[in-house]
Amino acid sequence: MADLSVQLAGMRLTNPILSASGTFGHGVEMTQLVPFERLGGWVSKTVTWNPRPGNRMPRIFETRAGFLNSIGLENRGIAHYVDHVLPQVEVERRAHPATIVVTNLGGHTAEEFAKLAAHLADREDIDAFEINLSCPNVDGGKLPYSTDPGRAEEVMALVRRETDKPLFAKVSPNVTRVEEIAKGCEAGGADAITACNTLLGMAVDWRRGKPRLATGAGGYSGAGVMPVALRCAWQCVQAVSIPVIGCGGIQAAEDVMEFLAAGCTAVQVGTASFADPSLLADLAQSLSNLLDQEGGRPLSDWIGTLDVPPQVPWRPAPLA
Ligand SMILES: Cc1cc2nc3c(=O)[nH]c(=O)nc-3n(C[C@H](O)[C@H](O)[C@H](O)COP(=O)(O)O)c2cc1C
Repeated sequence: MADLSVQLAGMRLTNPILSASGTFGHGVEMTQLVPFERLGGWVSKTVTWNPRPGNRMPRIFETRAGFLNSIGLENRGIAHYVDHVLPQVEVERRAHPATIVVTNLGGHTAEEFAKLAAHLADREDIDAFEINLSCPNVDGGKLPYSTDPGRAEEVMALVRRETDKPLFAKVSPNVTRVEEIAKGCEAGGADAITACNTLLGMAVDWRRGKPRLATGAGGYSGAGVMPVALRCAWQCVQAVSIPVIGCGGIQAAEDVMEFLAAGCTAVQVGTASFADPSLLADLAQSLSNLLDQEGGRPLSDWIGTLDVPPQVPWRPAPLA
């Protein structure tokens, strides 16, 4: 197997593949499909302070090239996560210490994000936190942390005060200048940027005159979003000096390599697991096979190899 290891925010990952939050439970329920140790890391579903029932049904719709969802951060709250999920995580982690565990946190206010981090700060079964600044399905996507660099910085700074664990800030593609949000997160103390969450989208059942999602709009993910997610990740890479974790539309090892070449240190895979739940189990091996075909250089050699020519004014040759 080729050397797939990467260094991410002070942690060594055996491979650069993580599950994307909310697309694979908390991870530990899925280990019969995807053995825990096959991934570089597992990211939990977003955990909020109080239990959340989520949004009205229907809240998932498959489009031609991806998924629309408006789950609305359904979860059982932090007490359930601590009492019922983390003990299972601990068992896996003890058996496979090389795989990292990332807990994704969601709050309504900066203080709530900080309260969540403080509550989990001393847990040895969590390696890092991912701060979900960017869910489009809560409060109609109006939470300001994903669109205002100053507010993003404020959240990250408050969370930073509560924990020394690595912090990933998960940003939204639904902004004009994602790199400004990433810079805000870095200034607030983020150790990595996850780029990115879902795009706002919708689908219509025109015969019935109804939206496909009960909320009207929702988050779009899967194959169709990859070019947008890749562009966002690349812009973040250029703007910050902390690592960027690419996320959006990845379905195969070739896709992973595009994100890595664009400068990402690691990737997350979400929607592709719905079509093929065992995809994540085999992705690291596919990546290794791909690198072998390319001469066997270690994976880290490929990070940031993208060379975009400088933009020079184009002058057409004078007409003869
Ligand atoms: C059904 C579903 C639920 C999701 N839930 C969460 C969540 O709880 N927290 C979060 O940060 N992102 C959530 N996401 C976003 C994914 O983690 C990921 O950022 C996005 O889907 C893009 O990656 P993909 O195209 O590989 O799925 C969810 C996505 C889907 C499809």
